[in-house]
Amino acid sequence: DADPMNELKRMAAEEAAAMVQDGMAVGLGSGSTSAMMIDALGRRWAEGLRFVGIPTSERSADQARAHGITLVTFATHPQLDLAIDGADEVERGSLDLIKGLGGALFREKIVAAAARRFIVVVDESKLVDHLGSRVPVPVEVTSFGWESTARQLGDLGGRVAPRMDRNGGLYVTDGGNMILDCTFGPIADPPALAAAIRGVVGVVESGLFIHRTSEVIVAGRNGLTRLVA
Ligand code: A5P
Repeated sequence: DADPMNELKRMAAEEAAAMVQDGMAVGLGSGSTSAMMIDALGRRWAEGLRFVGIPTSERSADQARAHGITLVTFATHPQLDLAIDGADEVERGSLDLIKGLGGALFREKIVAAAARRFIVVVDESKLVDHLGSRVPVPVEVTSFGWESTARQLGDLGGRVAPRMDRNGGLYVTDGGNMILDCTFGPIADPPALAAAIRGVVGVVESGLFIHRTSEVIVAGRNGLTRLVA
């Protein structure tokens, strides 16, 4: 891969994969960084490491299965030792996140909430002083009544746009719901906004991950940095 930042991202993903130990139950994230992490886990699996995984998307499930990694469900593993995932924005001070540009935010948040430790892997371009600076807040909503849900989300001060798929139809999540991308600009009080979004009927979950991060592994031009909550 010619892009030097990709090489650094791969190193960060490998550092996260190195945190997995024999016998652990591990949440497997989604997105390009998580894909590198799952490949690194696949290599460790081939070397004899044994653990079980719960994937955050069908895509990550397929990738893990291709490596032979054992996948389980919450029925047998309601608590995970570790979850590892990417993010779309990381707030420097709080380590709070925006996730969901890939559309998997709901399963990602369930997996993060089930894990004793939640490890986030990003490149330094994802670090911001205030969440909302670069990306909208994705909000998963039920398709029934979404236009009304969108109007109420707009009342919170954001510009709301339904996520579309490649064919110009409404995007459908793994859970059969829709995503509304809500552009607020830099968010002064992310916990308050997360609570307000949660209060709107029809909202399934928002991509604001508040007080969930244990540690962030950042790939930067000058190497890897670890930010601990
Ligand atoms: C998926 O819903 C997202 O939250 C991803 O975790 C996020 O988009 C990170 O993806 P990249 O690692 O590809 O940037």
